Amino acid sequence: MTETLESLFEPIRARIAAATDEDELRKIERETLDKGGTVAALLAAIPSLPGPKRPLAGKRANELKNAIGAALAEARERLARLAMERERTGAGFDPTLPGARISRGGLHPLVAVTRELEDLFTSMGYVVLDGPEIETDYHNFEALNIPRDHPARDMQDTFRLDLEGKLVLRTHTSAVQARGLKRLADEIRAGRFAPPFRAIVPGKVFRQETTDASHEHTFHQMEGLVVGKDVSVGHLIGAMKTLLRGVFGREIEIRLRPGYFPFVEPGFELDARCPFCKEGCSVCKRSTWIELLPCGLVHPNVLQECGIDPEHWSGFAFGLGLSRLVMLRYGIDDVRLLLSGDLRFLEQF
Ligand code: PHE
Repeated sequence: MTETLESLFEPIRARIAAATDEDELRKIERETLDKGGTVAALLAAIPSLPGPKRPLAGKRANELKNAIGAALAEARERLARLAMERERTGAGFDPTLPGARISRGGLHPLVAVTRELEDLFTSMGYVVLDGPEIETDYHNFEALNIPRDHPARDMQDTFRLDLEGKLVLRTHTSAVQARGLKRLADEIRAGRFAPPFRAIVPGKVFRQETTDASHEHTFHQMEGLVVGKDVSVGHLIGAMKTLLRGVFGREIEIRLRPGYFPFVEPGFELDARCPFCKEGCSVCKRSTWIELLPCGLVHPNVLQECGIDPEHWSGFAFGLGLSRLVMLRYGIDDVRLLLSGDLRFLEQF
């Protein structure tokens, strides 16, 4: 029995000495000291021994139990010391492992395209104008040759802000045309500035309408306005071609169709040849043309109203649908996504 105990302890001692973590030690402890383990099996065998041998066998079994317990305690201390030592010296720390990823914000696609267009137009001598989103009926409509009872008011479903009908949420960036022209008139009169005057107005506009994938009550436009001597439709076409080249990175064929807006004469709808297909696709609704921007020569009534002599000066204006352009550019099929604030959408840019 004595030998049996010695020969039992040796392999256990070796396993404990070789253990490198607490899980292993715990496993050995379970197999030896816990209920049903080696020591318990030995103790259970004692009653079957001849009487005189029992006391010694019992003593040895207890010695084995204590020896295993001591070896385990020692091993645990060794592991703890090792862990502390590792921490102190930095051993086991791998500086080449990739760090935790920090997520960075990006530009909203509307902002990215607006900045690109601002760069493009300022490089051609345009200034960037701003105007209020809460606008007077006068700047939004009347100054633009749209009097109170004019049927063209029905073209734009307006959010009105007061009962007298003086304040509106601007329905188009054209409202800033009126403000810009009046300012220009002042500058010309004071002799501080001489045309040509070129401006763009990127901004938010509002329409009271039922929303769906292609309609939103709040969207973005970019107005363009140029006033000078003998400004013609040719200048307008030239500017629009440059705009499209800037946006799509290559020459894009365009066509003009007549379009009616009270503040331009003649007025046009400018279509661009679909940049995505040759034979027709879902973007151009199988027509190969995309209706992109309304434009025209500034109506003499508008110039007159804003204090600029239409006998001396002429100009062109265009109203780029910025939201629509962003959708075309990135293949976004629902305008409501743009202002949704949905991170699943935004994180794609
Ligand atoms: N303001 C017009 C609209 O939103 C577009 C437009 C702008 C048309 C400039 C002609 C010239 O519908």
